[in-house]
Amino acid sequence: MNHRAQLLAGMILLTTTTMDAGLAQAASGPGKAAIASPHRLATDAGLEVLANGGNAFDAAIAVGAALSVIEPSSSGIGGGGFFLLHRARDGKDVFIDARETAPAESRGELWADAEGKIDRDKAMNGPLSAGIPGEPAAFTWMAGHYGKLPLKASLAPAIRLAREGFPVYARFQSSIERRKEVLARWPGATALYLVDGAAPALGTVWKNPDLATTLERIASKGDEGFYEGEFAARMVEAVRAAGGIWKREDLAAYKIREREPISLDYRGWRIVTAPPPSSGGIALGEMFNILSGYDLTRLDRVHTVHLTIEAMRRAYRDRAEYLGDPDFVKMPVAELLSPLYAAGLRASIHPSKATPSDMLPGYMAPKESDHTSHYSIIDADGNMASVTKTVNLTLGSGFVVPGTGFVLNNEMDDFALLPGQANAYGLVGGDANAPKPGHRPLSSMTPSFVIGKERTGVIGTPGGSRIITMVFEGILAFIDGDLPEKVVANPRYHHQYLPDVVSTEPKAFTREEVKALQAMGHIVNDGERTWGLMNMVSWDRTTNTLHAGADPREEMSSGKVQQ
Ligand code: DON
Repeated sequence: MNHRAQLLAGMILLTTTTMDAGLAQAASGPGKAAIASPHRLATDAGLEVLANGGNAFDAAIAVGAALSVIEPSSSGIGGGGFFLLHRARDGKDVFIDARETAPAESRGELWADAEGKIDRDKAMNGPLSAGIPGEPAAFTWMAGHYGKLPLKASLAPAIRLAREGFPVYARFQSSIERRKEVLARWPGATALYLVDGAAPALGTVWKNPDLATTLERIASKGDEGFYEGEFAARMVEAVRAAGGIWKREDLAAYKIREREPISLDYRGWRIVTAPPPSSGGIALGEMFNILSGYDLTRLDRVHTVHLTIEAMRRAYRDRAEYLGDPDFVKMPVAELLSPLYAAGLRASIHPSKATPSDMLPGYMAPKESDHTSHYSIIDADGNMASVTKTVNLTLGSGFVVPGTGFVLNNEMDDFALLPGQANAYGLVGGDANAPKPGHRPLSSMTPSFVIGKERTGVIGTPGGSRIITMVFEGILAFIDGDLPEKVVANPRYHHQYLPDVVSTEPKAFTREEVKALQAMGHIVNDGERTWGLMNMVSWDRTTNTLHAGADPREEMSSGKVQQ
């Protein structure tokens, strides 16, 4: 039964809750739809489009486009992303892969310095670090194939925000401040983001009329307005003049891919999640398969955490070894997801002793960062969208083609640009993830659905290599009964095989728990700092109650239920 039918059938009292410390606001109760996103203006853009007759997919365009205006540090039309969709009408689940692609002239040596090491500046800053963007193609595809409204209607709130402006908020300002030296190198970026060489002042109204015009062009011309013609020529010319390698053919050849999501079973729950070129779904599958062999109800918290860490360690090892772009790289997906394989991994786990990572074969050492956007949507008909999108590092490459209003991504750094040499997250890799023409770089973004007999959740987060473990812990907490408001606020812990360390947010463990884990041989970096920006919505089908949980770690995060 869909929400509307259930709403008519049932009389349920409205409840509204507000998250702690007056930061994020998350309303919950019966309603028509729920959206949680990193900024209240983006959440409102989605609600507006729903109120105008759009569905969750139109709202996914509206929220995404609004974020490209409001949160350029994290994602935008110069970047890419993954859009996991569920269509209630026929139960179809589809994963729209709008990941960037490597330009045809890509070859590892372009990013090498005189000593054959990766030139980190070229890998992270300026147009050589930019892949061909996927986000505009995702918007046009979703409007054409899944939405109810014309693209123009779904882009309207973002165009208005870009033209009329919004007040500069703390994270927006600090991201520009952090990247100001790089932005200052490029006249397009300087004109867009810097005021006398610095970030704009807090609270001042920030407008981006160029981006409004770019979005209008996409709204009226579709893909052609971005990937072809005069606009494409302008981007290519500016990129090449500043040392990049884009060609018009690269842009004209860009296509989103519709992929089958990975579907997992865990204790009677179905988890629908991200396939390659995300590493998330396979890593989640391995971790759930390992845990499902234990009766966790008989274990205390410390032993449960120990087994969870050991599952993380093993999944991240395999991530490094096997994964890449599925259009080009052969991967043993079925084997990695098989219960038999998990049983083998489980057999290598000691019930109360940490396995040192260097006893497992292979090597990898990722680090994290907090710039990527995730939002979650459920509409009145039960359509769902879980979207994680990014320009990679803060403000991507920092390069703006003059007059376009958006930064280009620096997603090329998610490739193993040179074999065995680390990227910004410390990730290394080899041929499976080499920067070959047309390939998509391996990602950790893991937009997911979690579906039980009574409750359904839509979940995801930014956070670089920590995305996968955050989504893992979020799903486990939801299955254990936490509502989205709590799931997103729960303190998190993380292990990624190498470095061989359990990192934790403040208050993730008590002192006694840390001591007990240390006694088992775990190295615990306790309470270093917070990470991630998780936004989750859920639908309890027995009471027809919607919940929206916005991460309280960011004050602009906003989850709302539309009444
Ligand atoms: O696709 C990836 O895995 C990275 N480009 C994601 C970057 C990210 O999450 C940064 N911030 N949180």
